[in-house]
Amino acid sequence: MKENKVVDRAISLARDLKDRAPKLFGIATGVDGLDDLFFTVDIKDGKAIKKALGGYPFRAVINLTGMPDTGKSLMAEQFAIKQASLGYPPCFVTVETPAPFLIQGLKMRANAMGVNWEEIEDRIVLIDAASYEILREDLPSLLNTLERAIEEYEIKSVIIDSITGLYEAKEMMARTIVREVFSFLKSQGQTGLLISQKRSSHEAESAEAAGGYAVSHICDVNMVTAKRIIQTQRDEKIFRKPVGSLVRTFRIDGSRMCGHDTDTHILEITELGLVRIGPKITEVE
Ligand SMILES: Nc1ncnc2c1ncn2[C@@H]1O[C@H](COP(=O)(O)OP(=O)(O)OP(=O)(O)O)[C@@H](O)[C@H]1O
Ligand SMILES: [Mg+2]
Repeated sequence: MKENKVVDRAISLARDLKDRAPKLFGIATGVDGLDDLFFTVDIKDGKAIKKALGGYPFRAVINLTGMPDTGKSLMAEQFAIKQASLGYPPCFVTVETPAPFLIQGLKMRANAMGVNWEEIEDRIVLIDAASYEILREDLPSLLNTLERAIEEYEIKSVIIDSITGLYEAKEMMARTIVREVFSFLKSQGQTGLLISQKRSSHEAESAEAAGGYAVSHICDVNMVTAKRIIQTQRDEKIFRKPVGSLVRTFRIDGSRMCGHDTDTHILEITELGLVRIGPKITEVE
């Protein structure tokens, strides 16, 4: 018969954990209009005062999910460029696009953001899981590779585009895979940006529809992108775009680590290929 064990190390007093709680501050997202949508709340003279965090919560594992072509990969690239430009090396695990192609995109993004590529190319680490099947199929190999990169290049944040690509054709493994990636990033003290793809048009604008329901329950922060075609006069008024045009939207669905804006915002992609978070939809009305 299996003997049950008591894990003493897992028991602690709240007081003894306080020094181990990560400090709450923001790290720049590289996306205009997004940094101030995360905030903390201080109580002063009995009143709640919001203070913008100035970026993604440090050491959060973030799920960015949405339909195809809504700017998820662009946002991932912008985050990598921004962090590298500030001197904090990111590691980009590319699961869909082979690394040499991703470089093209990163260079364009750097250019559009006014960041000198030569200054950051030694600070962006790529792991090419698109070209090496073992990294997509065998999670321990991917995490070992990532651990090596984190150690060797003093990586501070990890981007995976996309996590969905790690459980293609084995959807029932999604939860286990996401949980292991989450625990790994936590144990390594990393801020993580996991991109996940929408499974269907059901619940198109919610985080739950993505990743076989696995990702959004596990991650600390959920952000959702969506798109729609303007079809009615009402939509024309709300979005100020003619019938037939495409509009993209963005929303923060949840964050366990800090306060956050909850409105749906217009997401614009500029002609230089940069995502920008615009006004809330209600303001456009
Ligand atoms: N320079 C540019 N000018 C205008 N639009 C651009 C530019 N670069 C990219 N786009 C638009 O951004 C979209 C790409 O967004 P992105 O690749 O980030 O999508 P995604 O959400 O990652 O999609 P998927 O789920 O398919 O990976 C393209 O469909 C294109 O319409
Ligand atoms: Mg993409």
